[in-house]
Amino acid sequence: MCGIVGYLGTRDAYPIIIEGLKRLEYRGYDSAGIALFDGTDLKVSKTKGKVADLEKKSEAEITTHGCVGIGHTRWATHGVPNDVNSHPHVSNSGELVIIHNGIIENYDSLKQELTSRGYTFKSDTDTEVLINLIEYVKKTEGVKLGKAVQIALNQVIGAYAIAVFDKNKPEEVVVAKLGSPLAIGIGKDEDEFFIASDASPFIEYTKNAVYLEDEEMAVIRFHKGIKVRKIKDDSLVDTYVQELQINLEQIEKGGYEHFMLKEIHEQPKAIQDTYRGRLLRNEAIIKMAGIEDNMKKFLNANRIIVVACGTSWHAGLVAEYIFEDLARIPVEVEYASEFRYRNPVITENDVLIAISQSGETADTLAAIKLAKSKGAFVFGVCNVVGSSIARESHAGAYTHAGPEIGVASTKAFTTQITVLTLIALRLARAKGTISSSDFRQHLLELEMIPGKVEQALKSDDLIKNIANIYKDAKNMLYLGRGFNFPVALEGALKLKEISYIHAEGYPAAEMKHGPIALIDENMPVIVIATKKGHYEKVVSNIQEIKSRKGKIIGIVTEGDVQVRQLADHVIEVPESLEALSPLLTTIPLQLLSYHIAVMLGKNVDQPRNLAKSVTVE
Ligand code: M6R
Repeated sequence: MCGIVGYLGTRDAYPIIIEGLKRLEYRGYDSAGIALFDGTDLKVSKTKGKVADLEKKSEAEITTHGCVGIGHTRWATHGVPNDVNSHPHVSNSGELVIIHNGIIENYDSLKQELTSRGYTFKSDTDTEVLINLIEYVKKTEGVKLGKAVQIALNQVIGAYAIAVFDKNKPEEVVVAKLGSPLAIGIGKDEDEFFIASDASPFIEYTKNAVYLEDEEMAVIRFHKGIKVRKIKDDSLVDTYVQELQINLEQIEKGGYEHFMLKEIHEQPKAIQDTYRGRLLRNEAIIKMAGIEDNMKKFLNANRIIVVACGTSWHAGLVAEYIFEDLARIPVEVEYASEFRYRNPVITENDVLIAISQSGETADTLAAIKLAKSKGAFVFGVCNVVGSSIARESHAGAYTHAGPEIGVASTKAFTTQITVLTLIALRLARAKGTISSSDFRQHLLELEMIPGKVEQALKSDDLIKNIANIYKDAKNMLYLGRGFNFPVALEGALKLKEISYIHAEGYPAAEMKHGPIALIDENMPVIVIATKKGHYEKVVSNIQEIKSRKGKIIGIVTEGDVQVRQLADHVIEVPESLEALSPLLTTIPLQLLSYHIAVMLGKNVDQPRNLAKSVTVE
């Protein structure tokens, strides 16, 4: 849940680390810090606040730079965000320094033991305990830093991605991973190395990277390369150098005011990238290696269990409607955090689909491990290539949305739905639950979605006006039915997380079982009322709201007349097949929450208390 960056090479490490931290700030942004060896001594600067605050502070505090350093942007787990609790943390002797993403669960008992041996602690963090444990091991066992890290980590319970160096041996950095991601970028001729939570801090320097697996550590030596070992048994691991596919443009704002807005506008292309090479309309087939190779597993499955969190869970709910409707396979959608702890019944005949943009969400990862231990077949739907969930799954399909930096998921959601629709259609065809003409029709309509999303994006000015009218609302209600019920949930989540306005998503017909009591002239109600989704029933729900004086914002199909007569505002989206409509109805809801949050002066890309990937429980 934090971002870590490191550099070892021949360039000035300071700007590389500061720029890298800016790119990783989506992972956590309550405090930040940097440690450098300037050729003579260790220089550390850290502060509560954003990387920009660190930049200001460190410019004054670190006047001499060097070619080795580490940096951290934090999302607090142990200890409130303040200067002292910020990383990097230095050991008692002042020799060793560490950055850490994760949680050391047994830090309290380790701290007591170290305290009894004379160690003192400045911060409330688990990380300061870890660096002192490493120091204690190094001194008492008389071993090198790499060995000390290994011995210490074998005493630790929890999750980590760490980078450590010793100011007396600054030509070496030791890194290790369990549960949190860690990539090592390798410069040309192995003369420089980059360490980061994801590859974004170093892609302009190198496209070659090694991703550590869980329970692996690496000793990185200047001019000597990397040695990767298993933390548990010390065995050497062959390193696989991966060639990265992302480029710098993809992770910059490209003229947009916020990443979220850029990512909303990227959806036509992202959706196209998702089905490119998979949807072959002329041949009337869908080709997905992960499905073809495991077709029997899907066809023989008793049911599909979908596990995910947040927006990805909403995509899973949409998938439930699509899979059951098209492929007639029973689907259960579970919050990964509940599933993993509720002793679920899982059999070898279950297929578990894990959905995750980041591929690093701790609860989803744990749900996968649980399902695997019971013999279920696990299929991952991830965006980040090479992520932990992608690697932990038996098979999977990437969404190919490109990097999503804004904390609020937008293109991740629509591309997840696209992949899941492709899978449902492929299975439906294999099972014979969809006719050939219906199948062709779906392929054709799916190919038209990017153009229709473009069309939906054109309502931006209208949506801005509506946002201006309702930006001061204290509550909002989002209603939808069928395929668009999950879109109502997603719309409400988008508003909550970036504007901090309380919002509820509800199935439109459930309103009369409780939430209708909330409706008065101060309650804006956003109703998804597209033509094909139980339209008449939703119109009745709108009438119920109107007679209680609620303000109605209808998301309707182009050319709609009936809802227009009842609603205070309507936002049109192009017509499409009902199963594909969530790909369109979600667009105005993303824009509405975006504009409200901007008008309220909120930090759209980095909302308070949140982080992009939740790699802790
Ligand atoms: O990376 P994941 O898709 O596994 O993340 C799951 C949720 O944390 C995520 O969707 C979260 O709800 C988003 N910030 C919502 O916009």
